[in-house]
Amino acid sequence: MHRSTRPNCGRDKIRYASKKGGAWRVEKASKLDEEKVKSEAIKRLINHGISHELMDKVETLTKEHYRKCMEQRFKELVASKALEGVETEIEDMDWESTFFLRHLPESNMSEIPDLEDDYRKAMKEFVVELEKLAELLLDLLCENLGLEKGYLKKAFCGSKGPTFGTKVGNYPPCPRPELVKGLRAHTDAGGIILLFQDDQVSGLQLLKDGEWIDVPPMRHSIVINLGDQLEVITNGKYKSVMHRVLTQTEGTRMSIASFYNPGRDAVIYPAPELLEKEAVDESQVYPKFVFEDYMKLYAGVKFQAKEPRFEAMKAMETTAVTPAPIAIA
Ligand SMILES: [Fe+2]
Repeated sequence: MHRSTRPNCGRDKIRYASKKGGAWRVEKASKLDEEKVKSEAIKRLINHGISHELMDKVETLTKEHYRKCMEQRFKELVASKALEGVETEIEDMDWESTFFLRHLPESNMSEIPDLEDDYRKAMKEFVVELEKLAELLLDLLCENLGLEKGYLKKAFCGSKGPTFGTKVGNYPPCPRPELVKGLRAHTDAGGIILLFQDDQVSGLQLLKDGEWIDVPPMRHSIVINLGDQLEVITNGKYKSVMHRVLTQTEGTRMSIASFYNPGRDAVIYPAPELLEKEAVDESQVYPKFVFEDYMKLYAGVKFQAKEPRFEAMKAMETTAVTPAPIAIA
């Protein structure tokens, strides 16, 4: 059953770090500052209310699990795709080793092989906290947008509630970082993404004003990212941001990304209240679609710009709602 309990972090206590003037800084905010959310779609939360002890445990166990169960497999895989002799960047591969966990609408944690009991238990505890944090953040976004509390969560619901899952990733050292990305540039398709990243090994970058900017490790912080669906619902007021992971020659980078997304059959469309408030011209209105249809499209074009995806969904919408011409002869 879906939980709706309040997170243990007070909204007035949330602090986040943002990059301005070339340096990361930590700020305290009674609510997420609208201008900052708009201008810097990736944030880092410091005072998120999740116990540091739990985060340390999750990090240790994730790294242990990688060494025990995944490292060898990855080495064999890359050995068969030797980089020697390659001169230009490989565009159809990511230098990562991952597995996925699903939490909502139903958890598949008990079906994942190779997870030790203490790891499974720590992850369960961790994702419950992340789920609460995601819902709190969605409500803060509602507040900033002037939407009623719970609007975004409701917009994500569909018939079975939102989907929530985690991609546990490891980015092993790469002998030729110039030839392959850890993860190629993309925007996330879904709603709100909470990332617990390695506190030592860097690699994550975001695209801002045409320039790639590092999101360096910061111990015990959670990186927040907004996906394409929030861009559609806010009609572009908040934008999903392009990001990528570079490979490094030293160290394996841990990345635990939890995706709080709409349910498969949720119908996604710009919030009417926002369109009215801003008196948006019809040509500027984002499309309306079923989330699952967007994901089908995304699967094939994830590493391409998002705008053609929105246009394709708009075209599908037009096809769906335009009645066929009536034959008169
Ligand atoms: Fe991503």
